[in-house]
Amino acid sequence: MAERTLHKTPGSLEHYLSDYESARQRFDWSESRRALTGSSDPHLNLAHEAVDRQVERGRADQIAARFLDREWRRVDVTYGDLQRHSNQFANVLRSLGIARGATIATLLGRVPELFSAALGAVKAGNVFCSLFSAFGPDPLKTRLQLGHVQLLVTTENLYRRKVAPIRSDLPELRSVLIVSEGTERKLPEGTSDFACLMDGASDAYQTTLTRDTDVALLHFTSGTTGKPKGVTLTHAAVIAQHATSQLVLDLHPGEVYWCTADPGWVTGIAYGLIGPLTCGVQLIVDREEFDPQRWYQILEEERVNVWYTAPTAIRMLMKAGTALTRERHYPQLRHMASVGEPLNGEAVLWGVEAFGMPFHDTWWQTETGAIMIANFAACDVLPGSMGRAVPGVEAQVVRRTAQGTLEVVESPEQVGEIALRPGWPSMFSSYLEDPERYRQSFLDGWYLAGDLARRDNEGYFWFVGRADDVIKSAGHLISPFEVESTLMTHPAVAQVAVIGVPDPIAGQAVKAFVELRSGFEGNDALRRQIMGHARRLLGAVVAPREIVFSDSLPRTRSGKIMRRLLRARELGLPEGDLSTLEGRE
Ligand code: WT7
Repeated sequence: MAERTLHKTPGSLEHYLSDYESARQRFDWSESRRALTGSSDPHLNLAHEAVDRQVERGRADQIAARFLDREWRRVDVTYGDLQRHSNQFANVLRSLGIARGATIATLLGRVPELFSAALGAVKAGNVFCSLFSAFGPDPLKTRLQLGHVQLLVTTENLYRRKVAPIRSDLPELRSVLIVSEGTERKLPEGTSDFACLMDGASDAYQTTLTRDTDVALLHFTSGTTGKPKGVTLTHAAVIAQHATSQLVLDLHPGEVYWCTADPGWVTGIAYGLIGPLTCGVQLIVDREEFDPQRWYQILEEERVNVWYTAPTAIRMLMKAGTALTRERHYPQLRHMASVGEPLNGEAVLWGVEAFGMPFHDTWWQTETGAIMIANFAACDVLPGSMGRAVPGVEAQVVRRTAQGTLEVVESPEQVGEIALRPGWPSMFSSYLEDPERYRQSFLDGWYLAGDLARRDNEGYFWFVGRADDVIKSAGHLISPFEVESTLMTHPAVAQVAVIGVPDPIAGQAVKAFVELRSGFEGNDALRRQIMGHARRLLGAVVAPREIVFSDSLPRTRSGKIMRRLLRARELGLPEGDLSTLEGRE
C-alpha cells in the first residue's frame, strides 16, 4: 500500500483521526449533537446552530461570508449581520401570512440575499429550497409544483425569463420577492420588493422551536424517470454536516474556506453554508463563473486555508497548465478536497505537483445529506479511491441474493452496490410525494445508494459507476427522461433517447438520439433548431450537447427505448443480453 499512498496533511486533526479505527469506535452521534449545541435540549434548529449559536460564542463581528463580484468588489457579511438579516426575513414571512412548515424557494445567483432567505426561512420553521439559477422554465415548473412552493425570492431578470411564463401553472405560489440588481425598470406585476419588505421588518426574532425530525431543507435531485426527486432533510442534518466539516474538511474557527459549489445544489448548502458556519469559519463566495486565472487569484488574495471543489473544475485547471498555477503563491492553503464525480488518481497527484498537496476525494449524495466516505485530512490518501467511511457511518459494498436479501461483498475484487446502514442524522426523511420510491431505496436494513464500487481490505472504497441510467455531467445529475420529455415537445421529434457519453472534462456529456416525424428532414438547420428549443426550456446545463438523427431507435418489445444498448454501441462495448430487443425472434 505504501507506494500508492500520499501522506497526511501536516497540521490537521491528527490527534483525532490519526488512528482511524479507534476514532470510529469512540464516535457517537449523540455526543456530536451535544458538542454542537452545548445541550441535550430536544429542540434543534439547523439555522440557529449556524448563526445564533456563533453569535452567542462571541463571533458577532467576525466575517461569516465574503462575496466577490466581477470587479473584485468585496461585500463582507458578519455573523451578526447574518443573524439580523435572517431574523428580518423570518419576520417578513410571518407578515406575509406564510405559515410554519410551508416551502420557501430562492432562484438566485450567489448573493447575500440567498443566505438571508435560507437561514431566515429555516429559523422560522419553514422548509427552504434553493433552485439552480441556470435551470430553464420546464425544470423550474416541475420543481416549484412538486415542492408546493409558496414564496419565491428571485431577481427581475430571472423572473421575466423563467418564472413569468409559467406563473399561471403555479397556483400555490403566493408571493414572489424581487432582489434588486440595480438595473430594474419597474417591479413585474404580482411581485414585491425584497429590500423594501426587509427594511420594514424587525431584526429581532426568536427562533421557532423545531425538533430534530422536522423537515428543514428540500433539495431536488434527478433519477431515471422524468419526475425529479424531492429529497427532504431534517434539522438533525446539521449534526452530520457539522461533524464532517470538522472531521473531513478540517475546518477551524476564523479560517478562510472556499466551497466552489453553487447553493442551487446540496453541496452549496451543506458545505457552502451550514456546516462551515457551525465551525465559525469565513466563507468565500465568488459570484462569477469558473475561470482559472480568477480562481488562482482568489486562492492567493483571499488567503484561502481550505478549499472544497469538484473534479470537472480540477480537470479544467489541469488543462490550463501548471505554469498558470505557479504564477501565484498559496502559503495559507493547507487542505484541498473534492466531491461530486469520480476524481481520477491523476487529478489527485496533479494537486501534489501544482499545490504541494493532494486533493482529498469525498463521496456522498443529496440523499445522505452529508459526506459519508472520505479521504480524511489527517489520514493517508489513496489516489483514485474515495476513501473510508466517516466515523458514525457504516458503509459496505453489497450484492442482492436470489432470496431478495443483501450480502456484504467480502472480496476486494468484486463489484457491488454501496450500502449505508440507516442511523446517521442527515439521512433523507422522504422523497416528496413518492413514499414508494423511498421504501424501495431500502432493503434488508440498508439504504442502497445506486452507485457501484469495490471496497478493499483496508476499507477504502473505489468508485466503479452508477447502477442506473442517470447522467452525471460537470457534477450535475441529469435525468435522461426529463431531457427526453422536453425534446418530445418539439414538433419535429417523434422519438428520442438520451444517454451520457464520456467527456474528458465534464466526465459525461448529454447526447440525444432523435427519430424525426415523417415530413421532416434531418439537417443541420433542424438540429440547431431542436438544440435551441432544448436550451431555452431546459437551460444550458441540462440540454443535450449533441443531437444525432437516427432512423430507428432500439426498443424492447414492450416499447421501452434501450438506452443501455445505445450506450454500448456508442462506447464499443459488448451489447449484452438482447433477448428483449424488438424485431429479434
Ligand atoms: C452522486 C450523487 C455529493 C454531493 C453532491 C452531489 C456521484 C458523488 C462522488 C465521488 C464518484 C461521486 C455518485 C453519487 N458522486 N461523489 N467522490 N466519486 N462519484 O450529490 O447530485 O445527489 O449526486 O454523485 O454517483 O451517487 P448528487
